[in-house]
Amino acid sequence: MHDLTPEQIVRLEDLTPARVVLLDQRRLPDEVVELTCSSAAEVADAIRVMAVRGAPAIGVAAAYGLALAAARGEDLDAAEAALASSRPTAVNLRWALERMRPEPTADRARQLHREEVGRCKRMAAHAAALLEPGTRALTHCNAGGLATGGYGSAIGALRAAWEHGVLEHVLVGETRPLLQGARLTAWELEQIGIPHAVIADSAAASLMAAGEVDCVVTGADRIAANGDTANKIGTYGLAVLAAHHGIPLYVVAPSSTVDLATATGAEIPIEERAADEVTARFAARNPAFDVTPAELISAIVTEHGVHRVPYSEALAGAVAV
Ligand code: MRU
Repeated sequence: MHDLTPEQIVRLEDLTPARVVLLDQRRLPDEVVELTCSSAAEVADAIRVMAVRGAPAIGVAAAYGLALAAARGEDLDAAEAALASSRPTAVNLRWALERMRPEPTADRARQLHREEVGRCKRMAAHAAALLEPGTRALTHCNAGGLATGGYGSAIGALRAAWEHGVLEHVLVGETRPLLQGARLTAWELEQIGIPHAVIADSAAASLMAAGEVDCVVTGADRIAANGDTANKIGTYGLAVLAAHHGIPLYVVAPSSTVDLATATGAEIPIEERAADEVTARFAARNPAFDVTPAELISAIVTEHGVHRVPYSEALAGAVAV
């Protein structure tokens, strides 16, 4: 079993001059190539173009970006503004920058990174306990170590379930248009040795109807106070399908993704990305996320445990310090 270390996914190197180095997720799985960022603006750009992506991972990258800015004597207000505006939906970006601002050091960023990976491992154990022996799970996008800076949220839960002997197989939605499922999740599952098959996003309904899916497990980019959850576009559709077929949908996310300042999903900003990610030939719309209403989510799992409706009460205590 080959596992990516957190430092292989993103790190700050204390050279003179310092730099942030990250695994360029745009090039995976065909090429394993690192991208070097020499300023906070370059880290912000790497987040914007999705060389690093996934809610907790962009928070960690932004933390290293702010530490880099401090080490290089950059204007910290400008650095923070550039990093904070690089992508709008995942609240982890703002969360990480708020924690970095009082102490924008490499040590603080590394601590934040370690803590995020620790949260992933704790919530994976809680989530794995929800799965029955012989589970065939369906996941969407990539919520593995690449997306969290190590171990993974939804994929962390699935790997813990695999290690406990209760997971049989994973169906991986390819995740149009950027194929985070087909490129990144499939690659990570291959690396850690979990049986899987990539499916076209549109195959989920008939596979559920055929009884081939026991649960849907996803990550999240922002969880509002009432439990409404933003995640990769297509998650809402899977939630509707899962409800129709009586299949549970579990959201696995660290408490850094819980945003109690956002009352409901209607307030979550949804990123609209470039049309040419969908098609370069015709006009296109490209909303990158959707919101799954809380009532379609069977449980939200954070490092604090398994939270169920009413989420407004259950999530109130699930906030990272
Ligand atoms: O646009 P992306 O690839 O950054 O979107 C990522 C997702 O939607 C993930 O499912 C989410 O960030 C959870 S990652 C632990």
